[in-house]
Amino acid sequence: MSIIEEAVRKTAERYHRPAPPEQPASGGRPRLRRVPPPATETANVRRFQPVTLDRAVLDDNSILPQITDPGALRGYKILRTRMLRRLEANQWHSFAVTGATPGEGKTLTSINLAMALAQDPNTWVFLVDLDLHRPKVASYLGLNNSLGERGLTDYLLGDATFEQIMYTPAGMDRLAIIPNFQTVANASELLTSPRMDELVQTLEAETPRRVVIFDMPPVLASDDVLAFSPQVDGMLLVVAEGMTNRDALKGAKALLQEMNLLGVVLNRSEAQDEGAYYSYAR
Ligand SMILES: Nc1ncnc2c1ncn2[C@@H]1O[C@H](COP(=O)(O)OP(=O)(O)OP(=O)(O)O)[C@@H](O)[C@H]1O
Ligand SMILES: [Mg+2]
Repeated sequence: MSIIEEAVRKTAERYHRPAPPEQPASGGRPRLRRVPPPATETANVRRFQPVTLDRAVLDDNSILPQITDPGALRGYKILRTRMLRRLEANQWHSFAVTGATPGEGKTLTSINLAMALAQDPNTWVFLVDLDLHRPKVASYLGLNNSLGERGLTDYLLGDATFEQIMYTPAGMDRLAIIPNFQTVANASELLTSPRMDELVQTLEAETPRRVVIFDMPPVLASDDVLAFSPQVDGMLLVVAEGMTNRDALKGAKALLQEMNLLGVVLNRSEAQDEGAYYSYAR
């Protein structure tokens, strides 16, 4: 069976499971919490490699917490709250950020949403750069591998341990980042490898339970999203006003049909009515 056939099978299996009960009985998958996790969990929380992010780089790349535009700030907060509500309502914890075509703002949205979520005192977040073709999370944050940092591909190839690819930015204790520094030709094979399964399981087993955000390539550019989709609870689609054409969007929606669509982020919007470049719709 090809990777794609296997992915389609697993996706159908995953998304056609019966919906979980609204209020789960004890014992089910742990819920995301709006109330603080018990002190026993936060006391044991793992500390990852500390990194200090350069404010000037964040500023240049329009990354929270350096954003000052009130409209953009409000937009990210609205997106954060809506995402939290939707995740909680469904007992979901993880999602991939994708889009139809390149350059629509998937990575910027993934990073700023991760930071906005981690600003909530009760929400813990993992941000994973799962773009093995054009990884950008590290450069937008001013991390680079000249100091010998290792990232996702090193882990997937067996050249780094989990602890060696995890970074916690100074002052953002609830956020942990897995950057990626290398591109590979066989991305979808790596994304469906046992090593990737192991990483997802390790992320899921961390306490307190975290929201896991995977920054991915466009769904139409490769089979990566389809191949990886069985590992996530849902998809967040980023479209860019004036960039994403109707046919590409239709194509993307058709491919995402079998998956849980958590929402659509309208990036680069001129509309100021919700006060931001970002709005959010189903
Ligand atoms: N709302 C926005 N306002 C201004 N610039 C933006 C906005 N969103 C994205 N950009 C800029 O557009 C460029 C592409 O953004 P980004 O890398 O997030 O897109 P992407 O969809 O992840 O691209 P790729 O398909 O290559 O992964 C970056 O220079 C980013 O700073
Ligand atoms: Mg990107």
